[in-house]
Amino acid sequence: MFPRIPPNLSSCPSFQVLYNFVEDFRVSPPNFESPAQPSFLSPDSWGWLITVVSSDLAWIEDDVQKELIWESTSRRISERCGRCALPAMTRIFKIFPTLEIALHEPSWTSDNLGLKTWGASFVLSKKLDQILPSNPRHILELGSGTGLVGLTAAALRPNSPVLLTDLPEIVLNIVKNIDLNHSSHGGNAKARILNWLDKTTWGAETFDLIIASDPIYSEKHPSTLLSVVEELLETGGIFISIYPLRQAYASEIRDFETRMKKMFTIEGAGEESAFDDWDHEVQFRWSIHRKV
Ligand SMILES: C[S@@+](CC[C@H](N)C(=O)[O-])C[C@H]1O[C@@H](n2cnc3c(N)ncnc32)[C@H](O)[C@@H]1O
Repeated sequence: MFPRIPPNLSSCPSFQVLYNFVEDFRVSPPNFESPAQPSFLSPDSWGWLITVVSSDLAWIEDDVQKELIWESTSRRISERCGRCALPAMTRIFKIFPTLEIALHEPSWTSDNLGLKTWGASFVLSKKLDQILPSNPRHILELGSGTGLVGLTAAALRPNSPVLLTDLPEIVLNIVKNIDLNHSSHGGNAKARILNWLDKTTWGAETFDLIIASDPIYSEKHPSTLLSVVEELLETGGIFISIYPLRQAYASEIRDFETRMKKMFTIEGAGEESAFDDWDHEVQFRWSIHRKV
């Protein structure tokens, strides 16, 4: 996979030679459409990268060049240390041939799940053009994360304002992603804090369409998320959700589905599989419910 033999540091390779070799080890982040690119490295290659990152590169005089080599090398190492260790990155998600969404994903800190993009949002974004009502008055997304679904909705329905919401530690990055994609949504996407557990953050506005992608991974989530939907969804409005069928959360999913059945009438549902960052093929269930 890496046929060229990297230079021995004792031969004092030039900045350009060394930098090019390090960059050859780059692994592209997964795009959720196919299994992740293999990132296997032989023990010799690991050893070489570690030698470079720990070398003082004394023969390279320019400090900026040294920094570039150390930074690139440490990124090539962290790309292979699992999704949790990945450095911050900006990825392009191709939703349709004519719609690409760029998302900044900061490096993962303090278990903030909303700082990365989850497979459910990719699957739902690709379905949205078939299932979105034609002219929603006002769209709310709950637990937007990096914003893929909300930004796709805003691009597909340019006349409908979309409000993306999440916890305080997530919203700044959503604002950044709204700015990054300004040309596709034309300014119709906004973001603010909305904590399902804190009613004072819900606001008084109501919506005729609410969307949630991968929102169920704690026993509190079915009831707290659905209380927000009950309060903010107008009668006649639509609630679209999607979630992965993770064995670990089977009882939470059952609880969520039982509650939705009592609250709404179902208008559509289905299952799809896709790849996620963890390189598994995952099964996702989506549904469309109406508040009558
Ligand atoms: C698994 S992530 C999914 C993110 C995004 N929807 C996606 O599919 O990529 C779950 C999201 O729910 C948000 N969340 C969890 N608890 C929440 C709460 N109490 N209030 C608001 N958002 C919450 C998290 O911050 C995170 O962004």
